[in-house]
Amino acid sequence: MDFDLVIRNGTVATASDVFKADVGVRGGKVAALGENLAAGREEIDAANLLVLPGGVDGHVHFDQPTGDESEMADDFLSGTRSAAFGGTTTVLPFACQAKGQSLRAAVEDYHRRAEGKPVIDYAFHLIVTDPTEQVLGQELPALIRDGYTSFKIYMTYDALKLNDRQILEVLDIARTEGAMVMMHAENADCIAWLTDKLERAGQTAPFFHGVSRPRVAEREATHRAISLAELVDVPILIVHVSGADAVEQIRWAQGRGLRIYAETCPQYLFLTADDLGGDGFEGAKCICSPPPRDAANQRVIWDGLTGGTFQVFSSDHAPFRYDGPKGKKVAGEKAPFRCVPNGIPGVETRLPLLFSEGVMKGRMELTKFVELTATNPARMYGLHPRKGTIAVGADADIALWDPSRTVTITNDLLHHNVDYTPYEGIEVTGWPVATLSRGEMVCRDGALLASPGRGAFLPCGLPAPARPKGAPAPVLPF
Ligand code: URP
Ligand code: ZN
Ligand code: ZN
Repeated sequence: MDFDLVIRNGTVATASDVFKADVGVRGGKVAALGENLAAGREEIDAANLLVLPGGVDGHVHFDQPTGDESEMADDFLSGTRSAAFGGTTTVLPFACQAKGQSLRAAVEDYHRRAEGKPVIDYAFHLIVTDPTEQVLGQELPALIRDGYTSFKIYMTYDALKLNDRQILEVLDIARTEGAMVMMHAENADCIAWLTDKLERAGQTAPFFHGVSRPRVAEREATHRAISLAELVDVPILIVHVSGADAVEQIRWAQGRGLRIYAETCPQYLFLTADDLGGDGFEGAKCICSPPPRDAANQRVIWDGLTGGTFQVFSSDHAPFRYDGPKGKKVAGEKAPFRCVPNGIPGVETRLPLLFSEGVMKGRMELTKFVELTATNPARMYGLHPRKGTIAVGADADIALWDPSRTVTITNDLLHHNVDYTPYEGIEVTGWPVATLSRGEMVCRDGALLASPGRGAFLPCGLPAPARPKGAPAPVLPF
């Protein structure tokens, strides 16, 4: 047999092309693309199916300690299982440094959390919360060289945020070492001031979470992040962009030739501030930061996705159960929004939602879908071309999609450990019916076929998009 596996008769899509081809897999990698490939030990008939690179979700939170009594609902097993059922084959969760903790110790802790659990491959972003001399001078450069080549920094949340001087110090290390910096851009003082005012007025229901984090707070921080990055001459990626004002800043920077990249997420296309409203506490299900905006902002986000402002579309899966003492109700059923854990689930629904509303409704080419959800995240985080594409030599990470299957999203259908989905009742057309990781079937037709722990940790290379503008020209490989 020439191949371990041949996926026959399907329509393959990459970020640049859509074409009919068989895919031959050997040793977990794509070994051939072509017509009428020789027989494989195993064969899959993909007639009437799309053969897409498995998704790369560049922004998920699994088993991340929270700093209060709440707990994330998904660990590295349930989180990766849910990802795989949604057509994703690589995830990048965060290894978050607690203030006072060594960054290396944080990484070791997250490796322990993951041990024996993932069903698909994973890499870690770092979260740098305490940029001490030791962290900046030794730990961070050493970790980048060990394959942790991207990290997130926060401009808000007391337990996580850096001041501008600290941001500059961290950006400077990223520039020297060639790492990608992800920025959570919201102005902490604006949010704190508004939160205090709202609380004094008794406006503490989940709806007011959105009021406390207005677009202007995101805009100001986005502009400041851009300015700090320009000063240091280092590319940055602004994560989970929610509104038109931040988009305007990003376009302004990109128009000036700055290497400013941006990510958005399903919640900014499919939810609005109204989803945080209503009577009672139900709106807590949609509390995340930045918060969902309105229909006009959703249109701006769509335009940014199709028009090139955004490079990546991630889930920002941050899973908390609604019922029970460890999730959204950790501080009680009527807790003020300040005490409700931020974050919503979405690792499994990310791709079906974008595929249906984007590709099937004609807003977005299939190639663009692949670029935003697989190829570009792999590029941004130093995993391309091993991940994020279907090409000879790449890992055979493949999702088979039935573009005609119509599914109504309900939480029963999903494989996370959260007791709700914010997308309950949305009908989608197009569904990932099988997911393969390095040529192995992870899930098919609703059944999980992979064993926990089969997912491999991926050390990341230095991402080419993280090169500063002033960098010397790359050495060509020929
Ligand atoms: O509300 C959110 N997005 N929670 C997750 C943490 C983050 O800032 O991405
Ligand atoms: Zn964030
Ligand atoms: Zn996040």
